[in-house]
Amino acid sequence: MASLSIFLFILLFSLTLHHQSSAAAAAAPALSSTVQEYLGAHNEARAAVGVGPLRWSEALANISSRLARYQRNKMSCHFANLTNFRYGANQLWAGGAAETPRMAVEKWVEEKQYYNHADNTCAPNHQCGVYTQVVWRNSSEVGCAQATCVKEKTSLTICLYNPPGNYIGESPY
Ligand SMILES: *[C@@H]1O[C@H](CO)[C@@H](O)[C@H](O)[C@H]1NC(C)=O
Ligand SMILES: *[C@@H]1O[C@H](CO)[C@@H](O)[C@H](O)[C@H]1NC(C)=O
Ligand SMILES: *[C@@H]1O[C@H](CO)[C@@H](O)[C@H](O)[C@H]1NC(C)=O
Repeated sequence: MASLSIFLFILLFSLTLHHQSSAAAAAAPALSSTVQEYLGAHNEARAAVGVGPLRWSEALANISSRLARYQRNKMSCHFANLTNFRYGANQLWAGGAAETPRMAVEKWVEEKQYYNHADNTCAPNHQCGVYTQVVWRNSSEVGCAQATCVKEKTSLTICLYNPPGNYIGESPY
């Protein structure tokens, strides 16, 4: 009898340990609500065209954050010059009220109405590149940041994508 209860105790104890360790493992990638907004808005647009989700990259978020801070401190929140940058990049400059992360991504996704997937073209006098980067199938991770210029009442949102998308002549998905 005594040995059975000791056995049960050990069994229960090990089950408890098991639960604790799996809970700890599951808690590790907990994402902030800001990150969930960036990711959610991207991944809804991707799912809408049958493209798999992006993962959040802390490294890309850190680079975005450094870029956004620099543009805020030195460039009045104007667009960063990311010509020949090693990552794909989308930027949004907004005046007036601050954009939430979701609003920023949804602004990029609005270009979808000008994009014709059947022949991979964009309507005349429109740009579709920020939308095609959002849904670019080969891009697997994203990291974003926002900066606000209080005096100018403007904000800048930057998202970086790896691997980069928008290869000329290739279709996003
Ligand atoms: C990102 O920045 C945070 C805060 O500075 C730092 O703790 C973290 O190690 C950085 N992560 C990466 C992957 O660069
Ligand atoms: C952006 O940087 C590239 C070189 O990286 C340069 O050729 C280009 O003139 C710059 N554009 C602006 C608007 O400053
Ligand atoms: C995706 O990556 C594969 C393998 O690197 C490449 O062959 C293909 O052209 C890429 N497609 C797009 C749309 O970027």
